[in-house]
Amino acid sequence: MYLLTIESTCDETAAAVIDENLAVRSAVVASQEKLHERFGGVVPEIASRAHLERMLPVIDETPRRANITVADLDAVAVATTPGLAGSLLVGLAAAKALCVALDVPLLAINHLHAHVYACRIASGVNIFPCVGLIVSGGHTSLYRCSDALDFELLGGTIDDAAGEAFDKVASMLGLGFPGGPVLQRVGASGNPRAFDFPRSFLHDPRLQFSFSGLKTAVRYAIAPPGTPLPAPESLDPQFIADVAASFQEAVADILVAKSLAALRATQSRRLCVGGGVAANGRFRELIQAACAQDGIELHIAPLSLCTDNAVMGAIAMERFKAGLFEPLDLDIAPGLVR
Ligand code: KG4
Ligand code: ZN
Repeated sequence: MYLLTIESTCDETAAAVIDENLAVRSAVVASQEKLHERFGGVVPEIASRAHLERMLPVIDETPRRANITVADLDAVAVATTPGLAGSLLVGLAAAKALCVALDVPLLAINHLHAHVYACRIASGVNIFPCVGLIVSGGHTSLYRCSDALDFELLGGTIDDAAGEAFDKVASMLGLGFPGGPVLQRVGASGNPRAFDFPRSFLHDPRLQFSFSGLKTAVRYAIAPPGTPLPAPESLDPQFIADVAASFQEAVADILVAKSLAALRATQSRRLCVGGGVAANGRFRELIQAACAQDGIELHIAPLSLCTDNAVMGAIAMERFKAGLFEPLDLDIAPGLVR
């Protein structure tokens, strides 16, 4: 049995072929990073146009790499929520067209649930029940995951996502886009205690995040209120490194504290973490240490499955096995987080 999964929620056009044993037969990702770089963030209109150009070549290439043809596919799954509307539409239209042409069932993928499922694919073992933490460019969310088909949203950010904060802070420091990897690189030679940046809701029992105050604190560390941001070239490299390290430390502290709070609240002993920010080295260190200390079983997606990919769409195999097929008038749900 072969399932084709399609991912186009943001700025990666991706597809994968997954078999009934959840083995990844092939996976292709066409990144658009270069197209958005000079804008310092993903431009939705550029993203959807780029998906249009890349979608068919990617869908063509993926079964080929699995040594099958599209005629061998038994089902097609596509991420329909959440994401950028134009981007989601390209993936959904492609998936529907394949389903009609091949006369195979259509399956829907919740992109955030899929980020958690990346841990299932990577580990090869059952990960349910668990607490799921998704930290990406668009979302910072905690879930109670009873099984692959039963996710309950416990809380999320009330303003910016953690990844968005990484991207904005990098932009203020003139480091380019995406901000996470470069901030991590630059921060490696900085002092994480140089600035005492705020950690919102750290001791608040509510399972929610806020990163906008942290972003503002970084802004004011670079230039006091009422003064414009200096040209990045004029900033001292050690100052940039210290801001990057201190900012990263604050984000990591928050993510660790809230994960532990969610584990306590749900009396869960297993944590699964995914999303682009889960690639952050300092966060990985701190969450590993915290889980080891508390005897929590930790699954954290490998770097290749942290950022957007279609492999994690293998979660749709669980829907296939449960017969949860979608009608061909299925729509996207760009802003829905559930
Ligand atoms: O999951 P993802 O690829 O896309 C969304 O669904 O949003 O996450 C992208 C985000 C970006 O904000 C990027 O800056 C961040 O993940 N990111 C990182 C790292 N690598 C990527 N943040 C911190 N440290 C990293 N090493
Ligand atoms: Zn994502």
